Amino acid sequence: MLAEVSKNVFLYASQNKLFNKGAKKWGLKLGASQVVAGVTIESAIKKVRELNQKGIVCTLDHLGEFISSKEEATEAAAYNIKTLKAIAASGVNSNLSVKMTQLGLDIDLDFCLNNMRRILDVAKETNNFVRIDMEDYAHCQMTLDILRELRKTYDNVGTVIQSYLFRAEQDVKDLRGIPLRLVKGAYKESSEVAYQEKEKIDENYMNIIKEHLLSGSYTAIASHDHKIIAKVKEFAKQHNIPSNQFEFQMLYGFRKEMQLSLVQEGYKMRVYVPFGDDWFGYFMRRLAERPQNVTFALKGFFSK
Ligand code: FDA
Repeated sequence: MLAEVSKNVFLYASQNKLFNKGAKKWGLKLGASQVVAGVTIESAIKKVRELNQKGIVCTLDHLGEFISSKEEATEAAAYNIKTLKAIAASGVNSNLSVKMTQLGLDIDLDFCLNNMRRILDVAKETNNFVRIDMEDYAHCQMTLDILRELRKTYDNVGTVIQSYLFRAEQDVKDLRGIPLRLVKGAYKESSEVAYQEKEKIDENYMNIIKEHLLSGSYTAIASHDHKIIAKVKEFAKQHNIPSNQFEFQMLYGFRKEMQLSLVQEGYKMRVYVPFGDDWFGYFMRRLAERPQNVTFALKGFFSK
């Protein structure tokens, strides 16, 4: 009950434009530096380099919320291009994650598509890969339409499928051969489109992981759930899935010991590294996900 209340409070805060605007001026506060790798590209690249030295590869995400004009979306695309160039220039091992609403999906689909093409051209030049994060259900079909259109020209792009959605299994079947990040799903969705019970979400999660692995497609299993990770390891062994056909992914700052132990066991481990001054919404969603993260954040706050 209390967990549900705090979840809703954090989700409400994450969507509050005033809080988000205010937070941009504060710099990283409230322990956010535990889960956000600084506000500049330089600080993020430094964190990526430290992770690379531990055998962990990364995906960088320049945070951005509430994009409502073409100017803002064009600026966001330019920042993503700058990030790809910074990755190449610094020689760190990281790809890029982007959100379609940041590139103008709510303004105009073709405009968003063109922003993605500009980003993917630079990714191709620098031999890199771009992952389209999946947002809420209202953007799901449009995001998949964009992916399909882009895949006609680019092979260095993939997306994310959320196991809480009823449509997830069919989507994974339809996207056979395309690199997918599989997750449980981070947004609040209605019972008309999404499973609400944890058991069902977990069961569907394993189903789609198995489906994508067995089809021979490259699969990123993005979860902090040790039970799921253990099942995936077991399944890969049983079915002789080569270790270069999948990777585990976790968020920056979460389960650091487990990230390292997966590397030591020989698995590919990628950490999602968010950065930028628009950190507030991301931070609130992480607190909503897991009440224990509040203690974790407060520890960071008081150790400053
Ligand atoms: P879940 O939260 O279900 O926890 C299961 C169990 O794992 C817990 O009961 C606990 O025992 C253990 N556990 C979890 N977190 C722990 C911690 N920090 N410390 C100790 N134990 C812990 N979502 C989305 O909708 N679109 C997207 O594009 C992405 N992208 C993305 C990328 C990456 C790299 C990750 C890791 C996640 C995402 N997500 C996402 C978020 C995802 O959908 C999901 O909300 C979170 O990962 C939480 O679900 P988990 O599978 O991690 O475990």
